[in-house]
Amino acid sequence: MPARLSVDTVTVRAPAKVNLHLAVGPRRPDGYHDLTTVFHAIGLYDEVTLTRADALTVTVDGASGVPTDSTNLAARAVLALAKRTGHDPTVAVHLAKGIPVAGGCAGGSADAAAALVGCDHLWGTDLSREQLLEVAATLGSDVPFCLVGGTALGTGRGEQLTSVLGQGTFSWVLALSDGGLSTPTVYAELDRQREQGPVTVATDAGEVLAALRAGDAVLLGRALANDLQAPALALKPELQSVLDAGEALGALGGIVSGSGPTIAFLARDADHASSLAAALSARGVCRSVRVATGPTPGARVVKAA
Ligand code: C5P
Repeated sequence: MPARLSVDTVTVRAPAKVNLHLAVGPRRPDGYHDLTTVFHAIGLYDEVTLTRADALTVTVDGASGVPTDSTNLAARAVLALAKRTGHDPTVAVHLAKGIPVAGGCAGGSADAAAALVGCDHLWGTDLSREQLLEVAATLGSDVPFCLVGGTALGTGRGEQLTSVLGQGTFSWVLALSDGGLSTPTVYAELDRQREQGPVTVATDAGEVLAALRAGDAVLLGRALANDLQAPALALKPELQSVLDAGEALGALGGIVSGSGPTIAFLARDADHASSLAAALSARGVCRSVRVATGPTPGARVVKAA
């Protein structure tokens, strides 16, 4: 057998996600909530480069407010995989951020998934896909999905995944906000609203799954549902004007992405997404807009040397 070529540096690309359906159950004794969610990976990426080094370090490009200490989710992923496999966690982690920070698009989870894939490649661990997914689940509820990508049904706290049959590609416009929202704060606001009285709840994911099977963007636009939208709007009321603008400009549907504050609008096709993005931008209702298609694969090595 030829000797394994030693790799010193590896770059992994990991996608953002939107939740096409997010139904949140009651708060569990462990503080989490049981979910029924449909994750959808979109072509907005973070690139994570891992290089063998003398110490574990984190540097960041393209965003502010990302921690560079051991609380960084990519650093935690390196440490978790090192512990699981007996390797030395001495790598320089560089994050090139394309996913909005604290935006409800799983940017931190994407970095963690990328770090797992990258270290797995760098160290040549013999972990199976299932074992890597187990480590991913210890890091955060969205991290397993960021490894897998595509479109998947998530249950449990979001970490138990089943792939979803679908066809076609969907075109999205993401409206980015000034400032982020903290995920625990949005869940706590949902709990508070529920204590005060009945609130609208996302029912089952059937309509979204049918729209995906049919590859029908119009049906999908109508079926989008997110229980975290009301609490996100309560915490950031200005998001309503973004949703209203997208609807007025002809989006097939619009939804707060995960715990927000990014808003995802579904367009008919790529041309419609470009014109919708330009029109939204001209309205000046959001910080910036991005266009992306989904589904797209999960964290993948794009360069190794
Ligand atoms: O799993 P992760 O660390 O990403 O979750 C961040 C926070 O979001 C949790 O501490 C919890 O407050 C909330 N959460 C939840 N139920 C879930 C997922 C997340 O309450 N299923």
